[in-house]
Amino acid sequence: MKFVAKTLYGLEKVLAEELISLGASEVQAVNRAVLFNGDKELLYRVNYCARTALSVLMPVADFRIRSKDDLYNGGAKVEWERFMDADNTFSIVPVINSPHFVHTGYAGLILKDAIADYFRKRTGRRPSVDTSDPGILINLHISNDLVTISIDSSVVPLFKRGYRQVQTAAPLNEVLAAGILLLSGWKASATLTDPMCGSGTIPIEAGLMACKIPPGKFRQFFGFQRWKDFDKELFENIKRESDSQIVSSPVKIFGSDISDQAIKQTEANVSRSGLSDVVSLEVSDFKNFNTVDKQGFVFLNPPYGQRLQPDEIDGLYGMIGTTLKHNFPGTTAWLITSNKESLKNVGLKPKEKHILFNGALECILLKYEMYQGTKKPEKD
Ligand SMILES: C[S@@+](CC[C@H](N)C(=O)[O-])C[C@H]1O[C@@H](n2cnc3c(N)ncnc32)[C@H](O)[C@@H]1O
Repeated sequence: MKFVAKTLYGLEKVLAEELISLGASEVQAVNRAVLFNGDKELLYRVNYCARTALSVLMPVADFRIRSKDDLYNGGAKVEWERFMDADNTFSIVPVINSPHFVHTGYAGLILKDAIADYFRKRTGRRPSVDTSDPGILINLHISNDLVTISIDSSVVPLFKRGYRQVQTAAPLNEVLAAGILLLSGWKASATLTDPMCGSGTIPIEAGLMACKIPPGKFRQFFGFQRWKDFDKELFENIKRESDSQIVSSPVKIFGSDISDQAIKQTEANVSRSGLSDVVSLEVSDFKNFNTVDKQGFVFLNPPYGQRLQPDEIDGLYGMIGTTLKHNFPGTTAWLITSNKESLKNVGLKPKEKHILFNGALECILLKYEMYQGTKKPEKD
């Protein structure tokens, strides 16, 4: 079986590595997705265990079109009864970039008719559309004249881990936080500090990794559980086997924030993720914070500045550079922000740069090596 795991821009390589380690073959990273081969067991395992996948699609047809009618005819050729019955509900998500369709919704309507007619001809009944809670979620992708029809095995995006009860104004996407940690090379062997942790996404994703807790453990639902061929026993076995790998954290993880409200929210999220013994939290202004481990990793996701005056935000980024230099010698610091202008005020020369997206927002992820002793960090 062929599958497509979707991810955020910039995380394709780390997702490909995750998929290989989960047992995927023919792994190929493309733009915002990774193609791979595997079986039903792997499909369930990727949904439950992959930290950087947003969803996993199973393509059921691909064909070329020269007219709108070709979409109807191609859609009617899929053996839909393999995946659903006339009693099922379904919904179609169209992603269209094609001269054949000016209106995205119209392509979705054509496929909907093809599916409804397919069942009506065979059973006299037709499945109904339910956009809010569909039994089967169908992804219709048309690029120029190439149509791909897939079934979404996740339905609820996989960044919705299920541990987030409350959130601050600008949380990182969980998949992005996990991706940053994997990109950074942090291997749960060094202390980790997030001194602007907001709702705690980075410390929680790090805690899940350190304890080998599958990211799907707190979810109540995956789309494939509603599929006609859902194998409950197989899924229970995968969950049992994955959960049996859980260990106590070999490292300490610290989160702090200047806002006591944010720390209260993080405490609730940490507790829901079962990491209260792993993640230590405190209210602190970063400028007063000192590293607890000179070989440790620091992750910073400062405010982007939408709610601050330009001189305030520039001052904040300047303070980050000074504090890293004086209070965090020896550490490896990673900083992610969408504010490239204020970033200049950090005043340190990055060792690595990566472009990533937090939702629709383009961000830059930078690595700084903070030297110990007399050797000064390089100026930007
Ligand atoms: C973009 S948010 C971080 C979001 C977080 N990564 C998450 O996923 O929820 C930036 C955070 O920096 C905090 N902050 C701003 N100035 C600070 C300072 N001087 N010291 C510590 N935290 C600060 C804010 O309270 C806010 O929670």
